[in-house]
Amino acid sequence: MSLETPDRQRLASVQPRADIKARTLRQDRWWLQPLIIAVGFSAFVVYSTWAAFNHPVVAGTHHRIFFADPYLSPFYSPCFTDGCPPSVRWADFHIWKWLSPAIYILVFPLSFRATCYYYRKAYYRSFWLSPPACAVAEPHKNYTGETRFPLVFQNVHRYAWYFAVIFAGILTWDAALAFDKDGHFYVGVGTAILTINALLIWAYTLGCHSCRHITAGRINHFSKHPVRYRLWGLVSRLNNRHMQWAWASLLWVALADGYIRLVANGTIHDYHHIF
Ligand code: FES
Repeated sequence: MSLETPDRQRLASVQPRADIKARTLRQDRWWLQPLIIAVGFSAFVVYSTWAAFNHPVVAGTHHRIFFADPYLSPFYSPCFTDGCPPSVRWADFHIWKWLSPAIYILVFPLSFRATCYYYRKAYYRSFWLSPPACAVAEPHKNYTGETRFPLVFQNVHRYAWYFAVIFAGILTWDAALAFDKDGHFYVGVGTAILTINALLIWAYTLGCHSCRHITAGRINHFSKHPVRYRLWGLVSRLNNRHMQWAWASLLWVALADGYIRLVANGTIHDYHHIF
């Protein structure tokens, strides 16, 4: 069977890879970014694991350490335990008292983040060296992509997005509650921290690649869908900085938890004004 001209041209354009023995010809510090990411992720995992299991009752109160009136740690929101006062408690699951609420709450944002396209790139590079950086050969011989177990589960990302939106709404509600203390309008450092936390979570969630698809996927003519086009434009602007939103929201949520703990146990004072 003879090849048609386009096939011949395509074959002619496929060059064999250069026979280079070195793992990379890059001279810059390409290893720095994956290293920083590995350290950053590891630090977050260590802190969040510690925070998830560390929720003692604050001395002299019946509140747990993740609540400092009127602030609720985002790690423990929505609150399903008697450690929260009624003002921020959604329900009281006595049956799960042995289990830290942070565990069953974190599973939702965690599944969203762990399957995020940006985070996937980041941890594939930093932890699996697959590949560690552009133009740096990876140590693995085979590449099966995300088509098999367990990485095929990365496809849940588009569904996890809907749960992430619910959680962004809950954290926004927590930020709103932080303006209210005993019926008075309250503004403190923690109010600002929880408000910024909600904004960062929204910026990260709405800048998701799945959200771009939700706003404008499967349409052929933007001119026939002006509203979706505008939404897509807004989402795309957030998406341009998805990596930055991912890191800022990740670090900020840990900072918010740490701040509330320190206020709750009396280590620091929450500067505030009550109107
Ligand atoms: S791609 Fe990052 S949150 Fe969806």
